[in-house]
Amino acid sequence: MRIGVLGTGIAGRTIATKLIQLGHEVQLGSRTADNEAALAWADANGDSAGAGTFADVAAAAELVFNCTAGGASVEVLRAAGADNLEGKVLVDVSNPLDFSTGQLLLTVSNADSVGEQLQAAAPAARVVKALNTVNCQVMVQPSLVPGEHSVFVCGNDEAAKRQVIDLLGAFGWPAERVIDLGDITGSRATEMYLPLWVRLMGRLGTPLFNVVPVQAP
Ligand SMILES: NC(=O)c1ccc[n+]([C@@H]2O[C@H](COP(=O)([O-])OP(=O)(O)OC[C@H]3O[C@@H](n4cnc5c(N)ncnc54)[C@H](OP(=O)(O)O)[C@@H]3O)[C@@H](O)[C@H]2O)c1
Repeated sequence: MRIGVLGTGIAGRTIATKLIQLGHEVQLGSRTADNEAALAWADANGDSAGAGTFADVAAAAELVFNCTAGGASVEVLRAAGADNLEGKVLVDVSNPLDFSTGQLLLTVSNADSVGEQLQAAAPAARVVKALNTVNCQVMVQPSLVPGEHSVFVCGNDEAAKRQVIDLLGAFGWPAERVIDLGDITGSRATEMYLPLWVRLMGRLGTPLFNVVPVQAP
């Protein structure tokens, strides 16, 4: 499949590399066509790898990942072009983290979320929030954390969620470890988990951890 990854940071590059390993054609998107990190990644990942602007990458892809800073993701989507995303699955792994004041704030919270903002900005895209509750290394290699643990998806389009759950299966997440939180408003919950995730990382001294809900019998 032709997959576009918007975002040249560690999350975008890690997901893009995994997708190449899985046999997909992948383009990494950035604000500029000559982004150094994107060009270096494309050079290192063979003929199936490419790079371009957010708009180039969104237009060429059949499925798109949003791996950009959550506070900028709506702007990125506008640059990518809502028309270029029409009918396409947009997997949103972003978090609205804002460390600019020296403490962790969220750029959006409570009755809104980046996932919802992206869906509103591109109504014809099929946004699925996924994977934002784990470190990017764990996203593509869940076995780094021993035992059974969970990730979440949410979104308004059931077929899009099924497609993303299949893709997560290829990343190493069995379907029974993927919890569907319902429509895209579920993004509020997974994005507002981040302050706890950051505290846990501080306590545990590693980003390589995850959670699992345990039910009473
Ligand atoms: N790192 C992880 O393990 C992890 C885990 C879970 C979720 N996430 C989420 O994944 C996303 C990416 O994280 P990251 O650590 O890889 O990188 P990041 O530094 O949060 O984001 C880098 C990307 O955001 C774009 N960007 C930043 N400011 C922008 C602006 N003002 N306008 C347009 N684009 C802008 C950059 O564009 P250019 O390419 O043009 O520079 C770059 O592609 C974040 O939302 C993060 O919370 C990350």
